[in-house]
Amino acid sequence: MASESGAPKFNKDFLWGFATAAFQIEGSTDVDGRGKSIWDDFSRTPGKTFDGGNGDVATDSYARWEEDIALLKQYGVKAYRFSIAWARIIPLGGRNDPVNPKGIEFYSKFIDRLLANGITPFVTLYHWDLPQGLHDRYQGWLNKEIILDYVNYCRVCFEAFGDRVKHWLTMNEPWCVAVLGYGRGVFAPGHTSDRLRSPIGNSATEPWIVGHNVILSHAYATKLYREEFKPSQQGQIGITLNGDWTMPYDDSPENVASAQHSLDVAIGWFADPIYLGSYPDYMKEMLGDRLPEFTDEELAIVKGSSDFYGMNTYTTNLTKAGGDDEFQGLAEYTFTRPDGTQLGTQAHCAWLQTYPDGFRALLNYLYKRYKLPIYVTENGFAVKGENSLTIDQACQDWDRVEYFKGACEALHAAVFEDGVDIRSYFPWSFLDNFEWADGYETRFGVTYVDYKTQRRYPKASAKFLVNVSLNYRDPL
Ligand code: NOJ
Repeated sequence: MASESGAPKFNKDFLWGFATAAFQIEGSTDVDGRGKSIWDDFSRTPGKTFDGGNGDVATDSYARWEEDIALLKQYGVKAYRFSIAWARIIPLGGRNDPVNPKGIEFYSKFIDRLLANGITPFVTLYHWDLPQGLHDRYQGWLNKEIILDYVNYCRVCFEAFGDRVKHWLTMNEPWCVAVLGYGRGVFAPGHTSDRLRSPIGNSATEPWIVGHNVILSHAYATKLYREEFKPSQQGQIGITLNGDWTMPYDDSPENVASAQHSLDVAIGWFADPIYLGSYPDYMKEMLGDRLPEFTDEELAIVKGSSDFYGMNTYTTNLTKAGGDDEFQGLAEYTFTRPDGTQLGTQAHCAWLQTYPDGFRALLNYLYKRYKLPIYVTENGFAVKGENSLTIDQACQDWDRVEYFKGACEALHAAVFEDGVDIRSYFPWSFLDNFEWADGYETRFGVTYVDYKTQRRYPKASAKFLVNVSLNYRDPL
């Protein structure tokens, strides 16, 4: 692969690392004054997660944080992406609710320890664990009230950690928040959308309202950071969006159009207002008055509200026209080509197959369209049936290695052959962890976690990625 000697190296500031999120790893949900999050009860409710798993223990990282940082150090990462649990900082969530000093203390010592080990903290402010208090009070993201509460929470974090944190992500994957949390109801808070109450959400209004409120909350938090903190703290702030590459199933005009329609909704819903200043035309046509509108004043705050493009991506979909899911731009997805072959290697979860050329194409598409440096904040693979293997077998995760080999080659080619400005690569995930509605059934980690003992075992993919990053890294 391109890491042979002689291949160009990434700049020394390129952030090689791994990613996690608070609810997926921390556990200790009732420790040190943490308030409840919407995922607490949701994941404890029978039937909501595949295997009945919940976040009560997860990978026990709240207790094992020192061990985790030692392992990151052993891996030689330059950066670590993790999230702060809002309900640890402000247990009830709201702007008039008390701040929890123990929560501040935890993340503060965590950040200090990362820095002492030469690891750059890359911090997500919201990775889906909304304080339950705000759901109870006004239905969370469905209500514009949340903007002020979210911005207040961000202010507390900027004040407490901004002297040391220079990379902020306001939100993780708002499409999932809106569609899975408030449309299909498969993620907390488990709200199924209005009108048809269909799992698909055709003709729903609520997810579009949630999306709108997420965009505004992000934009006002960025404004606050830029006006009051950035001048002295000198960090960067942006949002991270999920989005997978799409290719038409065949060259029929309807299917060709469906690939763009899917990108317009799955990515453009959030990226277009934030980077270009308006919702995509296709969304306006599809949704009519169901799509909320920004006032001129709001739009001025939304447009340009991210310093970079934060990208989470996993796969490529072949698209056909004629679908009925508005959240995919009315495109149908498949991995089966017209000749019956599969796009790539199938992962444990149905929505994921390996296709590195799609990763490269998406990097090019986003850079050309939104014209900002890209931080790859997530990318990863779940090996089929990994949960039923012995630890030794699971650590030989060659399908995951193959996935990352393809992805790293694509990343390298995008930078050095296509000229895309890419600043980080954070494979998902540092550890096997709580995979939301899949519970513990699906493992994404480059480190195996034995949930009985909580021991961590580096998989072949971790070793592979450590080597790649060392080979690709500019000597200091
Ligand atoms: C995206 C999410 O940000 C993360 O929380 C999740 O575990 C991975 N994708 C894998 O599904």
